[in-house]
Amino acid sequence: MTAQWLRGPGLGDRPEKGKGEEVRWKKLGEPTWQVARSTSTDFPDPEKRGMPRWSLSRVRWKELEAGKEYVFQVGDSPEQRFRTAPLDMGEELIFAEGGDSDSTQAAEEMLTLACQKNPLFFSLGGDISYSDGKDVAREIRFWEMWHRVAQGTDGKLIPLVPGIGNHEVQGGYWQEGATFEDMKKKAPFFFALFGGLYQRDEPIGMDFGNYLSLLLLDTGHITPMERQTKWLEKNLAARKSVPWVFVSWHIACYPSARTWNAQPMSGYARSEWIPLIEKSDATAVFNHHDHDMQRVESEGKGGRKVMVLGNGSIGVEPREARCAESIPLRKAYAQENYINVIKLKKETVEVVTLSRMGRELDRLELKKRAAR
Ligand SMILES: [Fe+2]
Repeated sequence: MTAQWLRGPGLGDRPEKGKGEEVRWKKLGEPTWQVARSTSTDFPDPEKRGMPRWSLSRVRWKELEAGKEYVFQVGDSPEQRFRTAPLDMGEELIFAEGGDSDSTQAAEEMLTLACQKNPLFFSLGGDISYSDGKDVAREIRFWEMWHRVAQGTDGKLIPLVPGIGNHEVQGGYWQEGATFEDMKKKAPFFFALFGGLYQRDEPIGMDFGNYLSLLLLDTGHITPMERQTKWLEKNLAARKSVPWVFVSWHIACYPSARTWNAQPMSGYARSEWIPLIEKSDATAVFNHHDHDMQRVESEGKGGRKVMVLGNGSIGVEPREARCAESIPLRKAYAQENYINVIKLKKETVEVVTLSRMGRELDRLELKKRAAR
């Protein structure tokens, strides 16, 4: 588990250079505290508006026990709690998902709604703060909001699983000839915050015990899509025995506000990634980027159809759909803000799609491959 917090104007004194902050922590119920020190680095400020003002503090725990609650305290700040993922799923387990947030009133409401369902984590599939890798004030505004909303009903912190979108990157997309190191510099906030997870020029496979895996791909923002296809095939095959596997990326392969081939990434994902997922036992796909709620069933070229839940609208202004080819594939649609609450059970998964004020837009049940 990694905890990160920002310091600087409005966010508490920056720790002295090289010193970090004292963090007391323990497993809930244990009598004695352990002491760690945070690391601290300057938070990027690419537009260099004045002095580098903010710093990022971090403490990283390794080898925590699965399925436990932990408490920690930074200096004399209030105590915070989190829970680690269980080793076995148990009867049911909830996570939440969405994309395209920003720090609007709608985003604050929708993320609060999601976190109040007490998910194990929130998976945010790109376009987090809309800072475009440049605007440090806008980036910090998002994390201030996240700090306000990312708590369950009992106050426990809800971890974030970050995905990358075009608005994390200066210019939005990988550029011909650019190396991974070149592109990391174009997404300075994302890599300052999540470089520990995104260490290599390849997608992320995140496994929770033997019951849940998330595969997080990049629709050409830091790395070209073509480089990830073999990885996807291999990593789907490696998780054949995992009952629940979700694949997430940013740009919708079945567009809604954009047209069918407005972006080549949509066509590439439809022709190369979706058939691999159809051939596998994966449960469903999460898409984003077009700013509305559209659930489609894939075309089935790989032998079965999979649900693709999109298209990213946590806190942005919902757009009007104009993609004619997606309409026949649609199973649900609403020009609304939404988050998905995914409840894993032994044999089924229930996905409930909620809009503002908790209004239900869509609900579906997914079954394990063997039971399909
Ligand atoms: Fe986007």
